[in-house]
Amino acid sequence: MNARPRPDQALPIEVHGTARHPLGMPAARFLTSYWQKRPLLVRHAFAHFELPLDENDLGGLACEDMALSRIVMRDRDADTWSLRQGPFDEHDFAALPDRDWTLLVQDVDKWDPDVARLLDPFRFLPSWRVDDIMVSHAEDGGGVGPHADQYDVFLLQGKGRRHWSIDIRPDAPQTLREDSELKLLRDFEPTHQWTLEPGDMLYLPPGIPHDGVAVGPCLTFSIGMRAPSQAELLLDLAEHIAAALPEAYRYADPDLRPAPAPGEIDEAALNRLAKRLGHFAQPLSRDELASWFGSFITRYRMAQQVAPPARRKSRKQLLQALATGATLMRHPWSRFAWTRRRGGATLFASGQPYACTLSMARWLCSDRTLHLPKPPDESAQDVLLALINDGHLALKRERKR
Ligand code: SIN
Ligand code: CO
Repeated sequence: MNARPRPDQALPIEVHGTARHPLGMPAARFLTSYWQKRPLLVRHAFAHFELPLDENDLGGLACEDMALSRIVMRDRDADTWSLRQGPFDEHDFAALPDRDWTLLVQDVDKWDPDVARLLDPFRFLPSWRVDDIMVSHAEDGGGVGPHADQYDVFLLQGKGRRHWSIDIRPDAPQTLREDSELKLLRDFEPTHQWTLEPGDMLYLPPGIPHDGVAVGPCLTFSIGMRAPSQAELLLDLAEHIAAALPEAYRYADPDLRPAPAPGEIDEAALNRLAKRLGHFAQPLSRDELASWFGSFITRYRMAQQVAPPARRKSRKQLLQALATGATLMRHPWSRFAWTRRRGGATLFASGQPYACTLSMARWLCSDRTLHLPKPPDESAQDVLLALINDGHLALKRERKR
């Protein structure tokens, strides 16, 4: 007996557009079944597609100072890719080879009202989710290489043909090549391939590996979405909230007791901090809060940064200096503090963390000039060397009388 297909298995990856439904289905169905979920190839999405601009217009735009343009070129024999940022001029274009390059111009909808009209069929999406229309002109073999984007994109073929390959496997490899500033995928194994003709459109949700290679000269319109990262949202929200907070709301410790170990960011300090930050601190563990605060407070209100020494000190030099009675001086602009972490401590020096033992953290924060009570063991040597070579500590030899 044949098993009934799961509803999602029954969804086609390829459909035909109609005059009424450019996506080959009502917008509501597209949103439920495909949007942010799975790719969709729509043949004849725009059956009577009229090209709003051609490669010459695009080349002209790429010569404007204000337009964001780039040229990606592939060296097929060496399997390398190069990127050049615009603006370009006629000589740049005249010097290009016959094949294996593409010109891409961002935000063409802002420059050209005819291109902006291509957004009309996408009115079923909130307008603020739409970022821009990027237009690319590629010569035969041109493309930007296999990659995955962070945003949803509708790749509308405008002129000529382009061969698209995509990998829809949920565990598709995402490792990047290390030899290119373009974020190219190291391993790309397509599961689906199509050649798109003018008016055909490929929808890709974020993260789907894809590669579009021009089959002869072609123009592609990428209708790209905008989705702020959680980091961007949080940063802006924090700034927004902070702007309205009274200056008098600050860290306060009327309950302070004499510090048993100077420099320690202790439990009481972390509790006061968590109270002051309220629900913003809630997602953080105690260690995460301490680690952020240690770094923050040792940078806070610092007008200067310490510079590393001109010559790095070696372990041998450190041991020799200590053996002849040298002391360690903290750089006057280095601020030290420490916090307990499982099995030891983290020392913060002007924002930088250094893992060390509790006793070492205590000792390093105990004074600005330090005398070593006994020769340091290897892990203590590592910490001292790191602090010396980052400029926070300096070896000072005892003056001979
Ligand atoms: C293009 O080359 O036009 C599209 C680039 C992309 O795959 O995002
Ligand atoms: Co892409």
